Amino acid sequence: MKNIVITGGAGFIGSHVVRLFVNKYPEYKIINLDKLTYAGNLANLKDIEFYKLMQDEHVDGIIHLAAESHVDRSIKDPFTFAKTNVMGTLSLLQAAKLYWESLPEKYEGKRFYHISTDEVYGALKMNHPEGITPPFTTTASSSEHHLAYGDDFFYETTKYTPHSPYSASKAGSDHFVRAFHDTYGMPTIVTNCSNNYGPYQFPEKLIPLFINNIRHKKPLPVYGKGENVRDWLFVEDHARAIDVIFHNGKVAETYNIGGFNEWKNIDIIKVVIKTVDRLLGRAEGEDMNLITYVTDRLGHDARYAIDSTKLQKELGWEPSLQFEEGIEKTVRWYLDNQEWLDNITSGDYEKYYEKMYGNR
Ligand code: DAU
Repeated sequence: MKNIVITGGAGFIGSHVVRLFVNKYPEYKIINLDKLTYAGNLANLKDIEFYKLMQDEHVDGIIHLAAESHVDRSIKDPFTFAKTNVMGTLSLLQAAKLYWESLPEKYEGKRFYHISTDEVYGALKMNHPEGITPPFTTTASSSEHHLAYGDDFFYETTKYTPHSPYSASKAGSDHFVRAFHDTYGMPTIVTNCSNNYGPYQFPEKLIPLFINNIRHKKPLPVYGKGENVRDWLFVEDHARAIDVIFHNGKVAETYNIGGFNEWKNIDIIKVVIKTVDRLLGRAEGEDMNLITYVTDRLGHDARYAIDSTKLQKELGWEPSLQFEEGIEKTVRWYLDNQEWLDNITSGDYEKYYEKMYGNR
C-alpha cells in the first residue's frame, strides 16, 4: 500500500499517526484529510469530492480518525455528532466503495481502517471502589494485566451499549463500517481504544485542561466525586498500535487497544497537580486547593477498562511507557509549549467555547 488517506490528521491522535507514518514510511504518499475547523466536519464532504480525491491519488488505504470526540459537547449538541461521526464515516465508505469497485482489481490490496473508542461498550461496574491492589501503580508489561476497580474488562466481544450521544454516534459509525464489509466485501478493520493522553490534545479534555488551569491557578472542575475510572494510554503507543494493525491486522477483525492502566479521576488529578507543581518550581501539592467538585456529567460512565490481550498476543504490540513516565513527559510538553496552549485557549476559540458551553 503506497497511497494512504489519513482523516483527522490535524487532530490529537491523527497528528501522531501522520508523524509516525511520514517518518517511518518515506516511500508512502500520505494524504491528510482534515477540515481544520474545531474537530472538523466530514459531513460537509460530499461523496463525490472524496471519490475524486481517491481517484486522483489512487488511494489504496484509508485510516479514518476524524471525529467529534468530546462527550460534554455531545451532550449539548448531539446533532453535530451524528452528522460528523455517522454521516461523515458513511460518506467516506461510500466513496471508497465507488472508487475501489471501479478498479479491475476491486478490493484486492485495499484497506479501510476505522478508529473507534472503548466507550461504545458502555460502562463497567465498580465492584471494588477502593481498588483491588491499592496503591495502584502500573507496569507497561503485558505480563501484568491488572483489574483495578472491577471484575471485568471490555473485550472485543462485549455487547455495544453506548450511553452518551458521542458514544452512540461512534457505535453507529462502527456498525456502518462492519456493514460495508458484510454487504459489499470491503476490507475493513475496526479498533476500539481507551482514553489517550499526551502532547497536542485539545485542552477541553481532562489532562490538558487541568494542566493549563493549574498553571494559571484556575479551579479544577472535578465532576461528581471524582471516582469515575478511566483506562489511560499514551498517544504515541496508540499511534504505534495503529501502524501495526493497519499493516498486519486481519480484515474484518476488531482489536481492542489499551494499556491495562485504570485510574480514578481524582487520583490522576493529584498526580497531575504534583507533577505540574514540581516542574514549575512550586511546593509539590500546593495547588491541591484548586480541586473543585462540580455537578456530575449527565449519564457519566462509571468505569472503563479494556482488555487488549488479542492485539498483544496476535500482533505483538504492547505499550512502551510506564504511566508515571508518560504523565511526566506530557506535563513537561504542555509547560514547554505554552504558546500552543495559549493560541487555543484565547481569542476566537474562547469566545466560541463560552457561547456554546458557558464560562466554566
Ligand atoms: O475512552 C475513550 C474516550 O476517552 C474517547 O473516545 C473520547 O474521545 C475521549 O474524550 C475520552 O472520553 P472521556 O469522557 O473519558 O474523557 P474526558 O477527558 O472528557 O474526561 C475524562 C474523565 O474526567 C471523565 O470521567 C470525566 C472527567 N472530567 C472531565 C473534564 C473535562 C472531569 O471530572 N472534569 C472535567 O473538566
